[in-house]
Amino acid sequence: MRKNIIIANWKMYKTREEALDFIYSVSQAVPSKDLVESVVCAPAIMLRDLVKRQGDNVRIGAENMYYEEEGAFTGEISPKMLTSTNVEFVILGHSERRMIFKEDDALINKKVLSALEHGLKPILCCGETLTEMEEGKVEEVLTKQLTEGLKSVKKEDLTKIVIGYEPVWAIGTGKSATAEIAQSRCKFCRDVIAGLFGAEAEKIRIVYGGSVKPENIADFLKQPDVDGGLIGSASLNPQKYLAMVEAGIQK
Ligand code: PGA
Repeated sequence: MRKNIIIANWKMYKTREEALDFIYSVSQAVPSKDLVESVVCAPAIMLRDLVKRQGDNVRIGAENMYYEEEGAFTGEISPKMLTSTNVEFVILGHSERRMIFKEDDALINKKVLSALEHGLKPILCCGETLTEMEEGKVEEVLTKQLTEGLKSVKKEDLTKIVIGYEPVWAIGTGKSATAEIAQSRCKFCRDVIAGLFGAEAEKIRIVYGGSVKPENIADFLKQPDVDGGLIGSASLNPQKYLAMVEAGIQK
């Protein structure tokens, strides 16, 4: 059985003090990692502080990285820098990176391969925009993002990756996808991955993201191909985050 994974994506929110308040509130209160995986992805500048106070059951992740180990890349963060702070995960290819910072599938693929090479677990995001959905291009978009994003990944590395299916029209809009849409798209992602990696696709975790909150997370988690949530605004509040992690315990 695939264990649910509940991932906070703080984006560009919280000061250091607010990040510390959050981790003090949740690190002792989250359920055991044997029951559900809890991950907090935060701005790079706070990662060291969070890692020091993460406790036994919270894992820490970055929100982005560059693929080179070092060099003249002003403002970028390398995989070596992330591993030296002991973070475990890194979000790659989030739609905000794709749209605002013009990251394409080839660049995202280099980041995925570099993260794996350095022992980091990529959370690879995919998802269609509203226009792409209206034009009937959902399957085409997901197939391209997954095929190119996972290019050259070794079969034995596949399950280190978590896929985040996030329809862009549902992110930060308060308009989440229905549970049925989330299920059918996550299933579609799994089928694409099965086409690339065969039966290993049954083992990879695929989470849904886009206006997930304590009130709706259970509906998503009931779906057979949804293995967790990638949560932005509702994850900023420690009580809401804890409620969503609790909801991830499989009965
Ligand atoms: P949201 O963001 O939960 O605020 O919609 C999700 C995400 O961008 O990962």
